Amino acid sequence: MHNDIDKILVNEQEIAQICQNLGKQITHDYQGKRPILVGLLKGCIPFMSDLSRHIGLYVDMEFMAVSSYHGGISTSGDVKIRKDLDISIADRDVLIVEDIVDTASTIMTIINLFRHRGAASVKVVTLLDKPGGRIHDFTPDYIGKTIPKAFVVGYGLDYDELYRNLPYVGVLKPKVYND
Ligand code: PRP
Repeated sequence: MHNDIDKILVNEQEIAQICQNLGKQITHDYQGKRPILVGLLKGCIPFMSDLSRHIGLYVDMEFMAVSSYHGGISTSGDVKIRKDLDISIADRDVLIVEDIVDTASTIMTIINLFRHRGAASVKVVTLLDKPGGRIHDFTPDYIGKTIPKAFVVGYGLDYDELYRNLPYVGVLKPKVYND
């Protein structure tokens, strides 16, 4: 699996440091509140797990399954909700946890949905931000690392459902998806 990676973009140490820094900031910003962390499956799994352990607050942890890639290397723009939330978010402070914001189609769809459902506030924390891929004007509230426009996998991010279990984020060798 590691042989399919061209280069490592965010290593394990850097990821740990990012989670620590973001957790501290979020703890500070939400002091006295009980936010709902909403992870967007499946990519959010390692980040949600590591980040949440650096948030020193009472939090709810909820998940939605949202998908737009359908196995390819670029988004279809057609965002599908495969599993909705189990609880109401009306009047709640919601912090959406993403692995990556690329075109921002996914996140804009979910933010609009949560506002429509009456959330008190909706913010976004993302491990990776890829502003070069944007088709919507959007800036996440909390960003772990800004990355260039390359197809990345690992630490939750997949290609064809593989590589999510890599402990780092890396650029996939083009031969993997060209073959
Ligand atoms: C990925 C990623 C984000 C979204 C970002 O999810 O986890 O949710 O795409 O892309 P965008 O900004 O262009 O919308 P994907 O649809 O691949 O589902 P997954 O989390 O199950 O891998």
